Amino acid sequence: KPIVLSGAQPSGQLTIGNYLGALRQWDRMQDDFDCLYCIVDLHAITVRQDPSALRNASLDSLALYLACGIDPERAGIFMQSHVPEHSQLAWVLNCYTQFGELGRMTQFKDKSERHNNNINAGLFTYPVLMAADILLYQANQIPVGQDQKQHLELARDVAMRFNALHGDVFTVPEPFIPKVAARVMSLQDPTKKMSKSDDNPQNFIGLLEEPKVIAKKIKRAVTDSDDPPRVTFDLEAKPGVANLLSILSGVTGKTVPELEAEYQGKMYGHLKTDVADAVVSLLEPLQQRFKEIRADQNLMHKVLHQGAEQARSRAAETLRKVYDAVGFVLP
Ligand code: AQP
Repeated sequence: KPIVLSGAQPSGQLTIGNYLGALRQWDRMQDDFDCLYCIVDLHAITVRQDPSALRNASLDSLALYLACGIDPERAGIFMQSHVPEHSQLAWVLNCYTQFGELGRMTQFKDKSERHNNNINAGLFTYPVLMAADILLYQANQIPVGQDQKQHLELARDVAMRFNALHGDVFTVPEPFIPKVAARVMSLQDPTKKMSKSDDNPQNFIGLLEEPKVIAKKIKRAVTDSDDPPRVTFDLEAKPGVANLLSILSGVTGKTVPELEAEYQGKMYGHLKTDVADAVVSLLEPLQQRFKEIRADQNLMHKVLHQGAEQARSRAAETLRKVYDAVGFVLP
C-alpha cells in the first residue's frame, strides 16, 4: 500500500475546516493506504504557545483524531515530539536546503508579517522539518491543500538533491489531492481561510464548541447585501454565501448545484439556519465520542505509547540510512 503521512498543528482547537479538509479525508484513506497521522507539536512552537494550552490542545487533538474515526489498529497515530528522529533528520536536511529557497516560501512571508515580534529561526526552517516528517517514513503520497503545495515541492527538491548526491535514500513524495477537497473560509472574512489560531473566534467553528455558540457564529457569518438575496455559488462576487454553501455541501454530501436549486428564491437566514443545523448534527455525536475518549487516560496513553513505538522503529531505519550516507560513524 502507498504510504501516506499527514498531520495537524495543536496550535488551537481543530476547526470544521480541519475536519472537512483533513480529518474526514484521513478517515476515508485508512483502508487503501498505509497511513501515518501525527500531531505536529514541534511545528506549533514556531509561533509562541502557552505551555498548558499547548499540552491541552495536543491531547484534545489526539482524542479528536480518534473520535473522527482514525483507528490505531489501521493507522499510525503519534505525537511528533515523541519521535526524536524528526528533529534529527531535520538538522541534516537543514544542511541540504538553501537559505534562498526558504526565503521564497510564501507562508514564511505571511507568518512573519503576522507575528513580526517573533520571526524566529524555527519559523524560517519550518518547511525543512516538514520535509523531514515526510521523508522519514518514505511517504509516497501527501494530502495537501493549496497552502502546503510550495512546502511539498521543497521537500521533493531536497529529497532529489540528497538522492543525487548520495544514492536512492529517500522516496520522492507526490502530492495527493483528494477528490472532494473542501477549503473552508473564515466566517467574517471569507476571502481568507478558516484558521484555528485566528485572533477573532468569530472567524472559526471549533469542533468542540457548544452547539449554541456554533449556531450563533454561523448566523453572524458575513454574506452580502444583494437585494433580493441570491443563494448562488460565486467565489468572486459572493464569497460568504459560497463558503456557507460549501460547508453545507461538505457536511450533507449534497452537491453545490443541488443546493443552489434548493435555495432558489430563499433568504440568507434560511440557508444559515440549515448550515447551523447540519453542522451541529454532525458535531454533537463527535463531541460525545470525544468526551468519552478524552476522559479515558489509559486509552490515550496506550495509543500514544504504541503510536510512538511503531513510528520510531520506521523512522530509525531511514535515519540510519541517512547518517550512513552522509558519512557519520554509525553507533
Ligand atoms: N480552512 C481549511 N479548510 C480546509 N482544510 C484546512 N486545513 C486547515 N485549514 C483548513 C487542513 O487541515 C490540516 C491541518 O492543518 P494544520 O493544523 O497543519 O495547519 P494549517 O493549515 O495552518 O491549519 P490552521 O487551522 O490554519 O492552523 P494555524 O491557524 O495554526 O495556522 C491540513 O491538511 C490543512 O490543509
